[in-house]
Amino acid sequence: MKLKLLIVLSAVLLACNSTDDNKPGPVQGLGHSIKLRDAFKDDFYIGVALNTGQILEQDAVQTDLVALQFNSVTAENVMKSSQIHPSKDVYNFDTPDKLAALAEKHDMAFHGHTLVWHSQLSSFISSITDSTEMANTLKAHIEAVAGRYKGTTYSWDVVNEAVEWNGELRESVFLKAMGEDYLSFAFKTAAAVDPNADLYYNDYSMTGAQKRAGVIKMVKKIQASGAKIDGIGMQGHWSLEYPSIQEIETSILQYAALGLKVAITELDIDVLPNPDGISGADISQSAELQDEYNPYVNGLPEDIAQKQAKRYADIFALFLKHKDKIDRVTFWGVNDGNSWKNNFPVNGRTNYPLLFDRENLPKKAYDAVMALKQE
Ligand code: XIL
Repeated sequence: MKLKLLIVLSAVLLACNSTDDNKPGPVQGLGHSIKLRDAFKDDFYIGVALNTGQILEQDAVQTDLVALQFNSVTAENVMKSSQIHPSKDVYNFDTPDKLAALAEKHDMAFHGHTLVWHSQLSSFISSITDSTEMANTLKAHIEAVAGRYKGTTYSWDVVNEAVEWNGELRESVFLKAMGEDYLSFAFKTAAAVDPNADLYYNDYSMTGAQKRAGVIKMVKKIQASGAKIDGIGMQGHWSLEYPSIQEIETSILQYAALGLKVAITELDIDVLPNPDGISGADISQSAELQDEYNPYVNGLPEDIAQKQAKRYADIFALFLKHKDKIDRVTFWGVNDGNSWKNNFPVNGRTNYPLLFDRENLPKKAYDAVMALKQE
């Protein structure tokens, strides 16, 4: 009799447990139980750029996905000067504050993007021509913005996109006003504000030989000035074919040889054909929408999904090979639907550059990346 009772009790307990296990929790609801952030925890941070809605946690599925899969966050737009500091004495800290809190809640490395950039620049800064006024303005901007998140930010993109494809310094409003001293000035100012944050130079097309040589020359000058610079960010807006794994590897090695950390800061793999003459991620470029540039409006074909999976696997295998040099790999967006690549360099396309599809489900590319850690 007692034994019978025990068996019945055990069965009831087992049933309760299994009901618990099968509860449609966020992980199972999203159809993927192993997470990127855990799989790569001993290698590098796995980051993601968040738009305003995602920072404000407007979509519960995406909120769960971000918390489960990533352990670093970057603001896709809300910390750029035109948004966070639109005029001299106006600062919009509300949404960035929420991102800082989100990072803390989920134990994520909060990366600041970006302090000094010629694009999405506040109009009051873009009209400055005097060198002292520019220095004072940059100082005030860096002190206010980096100062607000001091102790919360793990790292900062101090300067974004200062070098042209041919290795020359970009004729930006900063260069015109202050000459190349603006570079070391920005790094010194950021280091004085937040000495513990890693300070990065960040740019696109960082695998081109001429641009790479120009970046290295510039970084050496920043280092020689006595300024603190800790890392190089390679944005990683790449495509199915370019750049080659060898070009990426050479670049990682040469940047690391400067004594700096390397981060892949804005990774996405464009699967669409692009108009001639447009490569990289110069956001001032654009081309008109034509059908030939938008072939997959009804879904990602199987062969292209496989090609992308192989490409992501090759790239992540290289990252793992150089994990001692790589601090962080950040994806530029949560899922294919909200990627900026649907609108760049051609507006209004259907692109598929990330690891999660429009339903927030993992793609073949996700499985291929995860498979590298399961061998
Ligand atoms: C992009 C954002 O993703 C878009 O939403 C915005 O319209 C333009 O900027 N290099 C950078 C990023 O450093 O800040 C850019 O982000 C993409 C290129």
